[in-house]
Amino acid sequence: MANDQILKNTNAKLLDEFNASVMFDKELYAQDIKGSIAHSQMLKEQGILTKKDQEDIENGLLQVKEEIESGKFEFKIEHEDIHMAVESRLTEIIGEAGKRLHTARSRNDQVATDFRLYVQDKNLSIKAQLKELVNTFVEVAKKHTETLIPGMTHLQHAQPINFGYHLLAYANMFKRDFERFESSHERNNYCPLGSAALAGTPHNINRFSTSEKLGFNSPTISALDTVSDRDFALEILFNISTAMMHISRISEELVTWSSYEFQFVRMSDEYATTSSIMPQKKNPDVPELLRGKTGRVYGNLVSLFTVMKGLPLAYNKDTQEDKEGVFDSVKTIEISISILNEVIKTMIINVERMANACKIGHLSATDLADYLVQKQAMPFRTAYYITKDVVTLANSLNKDISELTLEEIRSSNENIKDIDEEILMYLDLKASMNARTSFGGTSTKNTKEQIEIFEKWLKN
Ligand code: ARG
Repeated sequence: MANDQILKNTNAKLLDEFNASVMFDKELYAQDIKGSIAHSQMLKEQGILTKKDQEDIENGLLQVKEEIESGKFEFKIEHEDIHMAVESRLTEIIGEAGKRLHTARSRNDQVATDFRLYVQDKNLSIKAQLKELVNTFVEVAKKHTETLIPGMTHLQHAQPINFGYHLLAYANMFKRDFERFESSHERNNYCPLGSAALAGTPHNINRFSTSEKLGFNSPTISALDTVSDRDFALEILFNISTAMMHISRISEELVTWSSYEFQFVRMSDEYATTSSIMPQKKNPDVPELLRGKTGRVYGNLVSLFTVMKGLPLAYNKDTQEDKEGVFDSVKTIEISISILNEVIKTMIINVERMANACKIGHLSATDLADYLVQKQAMPFRTAYYITKDVVTLANSLNKDISELTLEEIRSSNENIKDIDEEILMYLDLKASMNARTSFGGTSTKNTKEQIEIFEKWLKN
């Protein structure tokens, strides 16, 4: 072969590889075959395919599916994408009838249908995983409605709360995530198939029939919009990103809590890792990875937004770039939820360390101010400054405000020199936590009510 011929062949091969998506969109083989079976059945109903051709197509497609699932199917770059790969194998198996399958459709509506079926499946399965995760948080929370932990703002000790209440904050986040996947599923449950290339088709098709067969509510309204719309993919990427952000936040707390300085929790041995150089170490690699993987999920979201932003109507090959990021984000969140679920179930909680930590930082200081407001009708700002004096005294005695004697409290400011003995009860840390009974507050009673709300929701 002449040199320039070799170069031409090499370039052609490179181009095929560049153009092809089959090596990653083969992930959609089941959706592709399901969509094609529905399409062929509709074509038969409409008198466009004969009964015999349709039966051959359907049986042939099932055989292709079997070949793929048993690993017999050979994916080749020449097939370009999963749609061509399936169709050409079908034609090899059944002959002429295989060539009739693509009547009244285009790969543009075909890929939109396959991908939407995939995303819709994942909306449901991730939603189910999230519910399980919420359940785990609620179960652990139930055991800790009286376990004190410093509630923080600015990562500084603020007010005593119970650990169950802290965990339920995450249950709320994951419940909202659940709802996001649910509403995305509802919003996107419309069938692209039959939009054809961009403008519909002159064939007498019935889009309502394929839509129903594939489990959608009804067909999409505009063919032009449909073949270029990837909002459903962006939505799942956003929903995954938000859920991963929540996973990352609890992971961050787990990393902090398992540090020597905190020692609030310990990862169970299966979920802690060792260092190759420092034999004494136990590292929180698992929550660190959960936190780290959040970054790539955000990347996938931004990446698809960027692909979509300049596209003129209608289909453009740019959208072939929509799939890998979605597959990656889906796999990442699936494993992340499963792993986090186990981490939370198996973590070892150091109740004593948490309770002791509450004795640092005058966590019940606000309770003194609130007491003065409630019992002595004092303006809050006045009460605030008096409390500050009590805190100053406690500091000088190297004590927490909850450890002061009545005499010490009385001596710290003129205005409270006769304060009733009952103040000691108010400064008690558990009492402080239990005083917060406003709706959504931390008291054990309120926490238990919150758990009841979750349990009702979980039963549905
Ligand atoms: N592999 C393509 C994709 O993923 C399928 C659609 C191709 N359509 C076309 N007209 N080239 O987007």
